[in-house]
Amino acid sequence: MILPKTVPLVQKPTTLHPLPRLSHALGGPELWIKRDDNTGLALGGNKARKLEFLLYEAVHAGYTDVITVGGIQSNHARMTAAAAASLGLKCHLVLRGKGRQIQGNLFLDHMFGAEILLLEPSEDREQAMEALAAELHRQGRKPYCIGVGGSNALGSLGYVTAVAEVLDQMDHPDMFSHTVVAVGSGGTYAGLWIGRTEFQWQTQLQGIAVDQEDFEPIIQEIAEDSSERFGTPLPERSTMHVDYTHIGQGYAIPSEAGMEAIQLFAEHEGILLDPVYTGKAAAGLVFMIRSGLLKQGQNVLFWHTGGAPALFAATEAFGHAVPGQDSPAS
Ligand SMILES: Cc1ncc(COP(=O)(O)O)c(C=O)c1O
Repeated sequence: MILPKTVPLVQKPTTLHPLPRLSHALGGPELWIKRDDNTGLALGGNKARKLEFLLYEAVHAGYTDVITVGGIQSNHARMTAAAAASLGLKCHLVLRGKGRQIQGNLFLDHMFGAEILLLEPSEDREQAMEALAAELHRQGRKPYCIGVGGSNALGSLGYVTAVAEVLDQMDHPDMFSHTVVAVGSGGTYAGLWIGRTEFQWQTQLQGIAVDQEDFEPIIQEIAEDSSERFGTPLPERSTMHVDYTHIGQGYAIPSEAGMEAIQLFAEHEGILLDPVYTGKAAAGLVFMIRSGLLKQGQNVLFWHTGGAPALFAATEAFGHAVPGQDSPAS
């Protein structure tokens, strides 16, 4: 494997630790967590690992600006804005979706000085990014464009190397029968999937989709590009597992099961998940335990990918948990 250089953005290693109270409450396997909610950059999250690779390229090839795209409450956008600020790059965010209150990640995007272009739900984000890049070129600037979630071969290397990191923290490479992680644009899963083969990690990597996209071809394409560009191994397709049954009503719409999982992690372990990604991934984990797919005697890893700032934009959905606020159903 050829590893390109990185800019340092992540405080590594992130902690790996057991979740004894949650494991007891659910009565299933011994649960562990990898704390990529604590990557250290601007309230943490998975995107910092990808940005270490992507922004090295931007800084060292003389780019002046960074443009990326996302939903209104995009964690990727927030972390890109923070990383750009720390590296002296001007950041532009092209954001699309409902719920435009200046709250959660969108509030922080402003705080980091990003220029924000808000699109209507029907508008095309990639086209808007290209148009903005063309305009910046006309002004004599050199914009570096990052596609949704930073999920390309270069960004995904952040999760290939994260596998080496977690293996170093484990007693033995087959410690976890399963590893559960959210899939939002595919790059995190792709990196872990490649890393699993590269470093011979003995775990079933269970992705939980949070959007109705067809992720298998996206993950496969990232792995093929990565293999061509960086000499990483191409994993067996049969080892790719993505579950689409925990999306609920759609991307970024809080689900009942997701909110229950968020409360379980909060009440039993003092850990914050988020309503868009990790809450739904945890709902998948809880479902697998309750349906007997994961059992006592196994160790199971939940890979926390961050996202808690979005909780502040979703408090209404948790009406019953917030004193003085009526439940959304009442
Ligand atoms: C908190 C959080 N978890 C998980 C994901 C999914 O990661 P990926 O886009 O690499 O699939 C994202 C993506 O934005 C995220 O913000």
